[in-house]
Amino acid sequence: MDLTNKLCIVTGANSGIGKETARSFAAGGAYVIMICRNEERAKTARQDIIDDTGNTGIKIILADLAVQHDVRSAAQQINQEFDEIDVLVNNAGLIANEREETIDGIEKTLAVNHLAPFLLTNLLWDGLEQSQGVRIINVSSEMHKIGAKVFDLNNLQLTDNYSAMNAYGVSKLCNIMFTHELAKRAKNNTITAYSLHPGVVGTQLAEEAGWLTKLFYWVGKPFMRSPKLGAETTIYLATSEEVTSASGQYFKDKEVVKPAAIAYNDDITSRLWEKSAQLTGLS
Ligand SMILES: NC(=O)c1ccc[n+]([C@@H]2O[C@H](COP(=O)([O-])OP(=O)(O)OC[C@H]3O[C@@H](n4cnc5c(N)ncnc54)[C@H](OP(=O)(O)O)[C@@H]3O)[C@@H](O)[C@H]2O)c1
Repeated sequence: MDLTNKLCIVTGANSGIGKETARSFAAGGAYVIMICRNEERAKTARQDIIDDTGNTGIKIILADLAVQHDVRSAAQQINQEFDEIDVLVNNAGLIANEREETIDGIEKTLAVNHLAPFLLTNLLWDGLEQSQGVRIINVSSEMHKIGAKVFDLNNLQLTDNYSAMNAYGVSKLCNIMFTHELAKRAKNNTITAYSLHPGVVGTQLAEEAGWLTKLFYWVGKPFMRSPKLGAETTIYLATSEEVTSASGQYFKDKEVVKPAAIAYNDDITSRLWEKSAQLTGLS
């Protein structure tokens, strides 16, 4: 894969699937921007990728994606420095044990897993529109099906009925809905958007989750995919010529699959967009 002269942005690029995605982009010769919240972890990952690929064109932008000010500042840095963007991978994510609100007063899982990608993508939109053949990739999960059972636009932040899995599931459903709506809104230009399930991957994802989820990950880790395998569908969506006619679709193992039916409900995805714009101060 030749990504020479391409600018690829990956959020949560210091660990797990995001790090392997950034590594592949770097190996392909891309200039890579890693958006990460922890400087030390980000620098260690960057050095590891440089040692492995020999590509020094890797920039770290620090941002806690739970904080909208940080998302705005990351987007501003990118917009000031780069005219065109080729690939944006909204990968960062978490499972939060307790219901917690961010500094912006938003339930944390929704803030990091859905509203940060929504805000970042919108703030980068001008740069994305300047480029030809841009791909936006939103890393979702089959757990969105749990979210589909409890999804309620009037209870998006789960002030009622909170559980870690409900919040994670709703946020991952929002990733698919956002992708669907993004593809519709981008249909007059060359931007395409995809969502995906990476498989069950042995990563740090359960770090902030409750003991039961942590136990599941700990016991299951030997049977889970490696992060390298977990990154394969993301990389496929970023590079394959075959997928450009499937903008807006949800993928698993490099194939289009059907998500929960509600994910493609135009009325709901459009109303989610409006609500997300309100929650991020874009409207
Ligand atoms: N692992 C799986 O089985 C699985 C299955 C389906 C979907 N996914 C999705 O895959 C994506 C990547 O997860 P992973 O499994 O690779 O887990 P991971 O190893 O924990 O990676 C998650 C990344 O997101 C970053 N992150 C979390 N909260 C952040 C914040 N507030 N600001 C900035 N960055 C933040 C983490 O940074 P820190 O290192 O600083 O915490 C880390 O770099 C997620 O969207 C997840 O939902 C994973």
